[in-house]
Parts: sequence; C-alpha cells; structure tokens
Amino acid sequence: MIIAPSILTADLAGLAVACQEAVDAGLDWLHLDVMDGNFVPNLTFGPPVIKALRSALGDGPTFDAHLMIDNAEDSWEQYVDAGCDHLSIHVEAVSHLHRLLTAIRARGCGAGVVLNPATSVEAALEVLPECDMVLVMSVNPGFGGQSFIPTVEAKIRRLREAIDAQVAAGGRPVQLQIDGGVKSHNIAMLSEWGVTNAVVGSGLFNDQATVADNLATINSALQ
Ligand code: DX5
Ligand code: ZN
Repeated sequence: MIIAPSILTADLAGLAVACQEAVDAGLDWLHLDVMDGNFVPNLTFGPPVIKALRSALGDGPTFDAHLMIDNAEDSWEQYVDAGCDHLSIHVEAVSHLHRLLTAIRARGCGAGVVLNPATSVEAALEVLPECDMVLVMSVNPGFGGQSFIPTVEAKIRRLREAIDAQVAAGGRPVQLQIDGGVKSHNIAMLSEWGVTNAVVGSGLFNDQATVADNLATINSALQ
C-alpha cells in the first residue's frame, strides 16, 4: 500500500518543511490538493507553489496532484510544467474526460480520474484503459479532517474487480487510490477492499504526534 500524504492539514506557512518531514519519514509520494474556490468551496495553491516545492524538494518525491478545479482542460499543462508526476481529474469537472486523460498521458504524466462520493463508478469504468489511477473520494472534497463515508465500499470493490480483469486481459495496471478520512483504524479494511494507494492528511499531519510516529502507527495497522 502506497501512503500518499496530503499536506492540507500541514503547516501551510512552512509547506516545504512539512513536505520534507514526510519525505524524511520515508514517504515518497506527496498528494497535492489543488482547490480553486469554485469546484470546491476552498482555495489552496496552484502551479507556482508546486514549482517552488519541486525546487525545494528535488526530483525524488512523486508529485500526485489532485485537481479540484473547473476548466482543467485549459490549465492542466501548467501542472505538468510545474513538476507534477500524476494529475487526477474529477469526472464531474470536465466535459471531455477521455480526451484529457489521453493528452495527459501523451505528455508522459500519469493520468487519474476522481469520483466524488455521489458519482457512479460507471464513469471511471468507461475510461479505465486510459487511466494510471482511479481515485475514489471517501469524503466530499474541499477540506481535510472530515469523516470517512463507508458506503464507498461497493465502488472500491467494483473497481478492484474491473482493474484485475483489465490486467488479466493484458491491459494497463491501474492504482486504486482512496482519499478522505483514512486513519490507522480503517486502513487495514481499505487494503482488504483492494485499495493500493491511500491518501492520508490529518492522520499524518496533526498536533498529536510527528509524521514519522503517525506513519509507524499506520504501518503497524497494515501488518
Ligand atoms: C479533500 C482532500 C483530501 C484531504 C485528506 O478534499 O482531497 O486529500 O485533505 O485529508 P484527511 O485525511 O484529513 O481526510
Ligand atoms: Zn486529495
């Protein structure tokens, strides 16, 4: 299971320091929650901040950008240019998802699709051959620290089956990522459902313990 730390609940005034703390704890993915104040009711950061993080952290970490933005068709290349390795696109926010995923992959960047809790799994199944990752939201996007929505189980299990079938038929492997309310108390269950990549925000960045100590608790829950 890849753990992708979401920096939303980290110290935003010291973002590079917070990211470095995660890297030093052994995490090699960074989940970057890009919010535009329109698609979701919150505003975070965009390409200039991501570019600055890339320069501060070097080439090592995998930058996994979760784009909670309208009009990603117009702006996605700025995120590739800023140093992102993966771009995940909400199916609810674009008109021509297949075209966009194909274009992202053609630039050598990983392409993911994201499903809000109320969005049917079918939208992701239609584009599965074009995806490197499917991200299932287990909270309504916009804020860190929300409670996990357990009804996503059926969606995850359906995607697990579809991805396994695609791989068995010689197709592309696809990471199955979950985002929202993931903590040490539910992560083993998510692994059993077939999740391969878990975004963890407030479960890693909080005032109870260091990132390294929180990660150790998560890893022991997974054993
Ligand atoms: C929500 C974001 C998540 C979130 C994760 O819109 O996409 O990445 O910040 O934070 P926790 O783990 O605190 O739910
Ligand atoms: Zn996210």
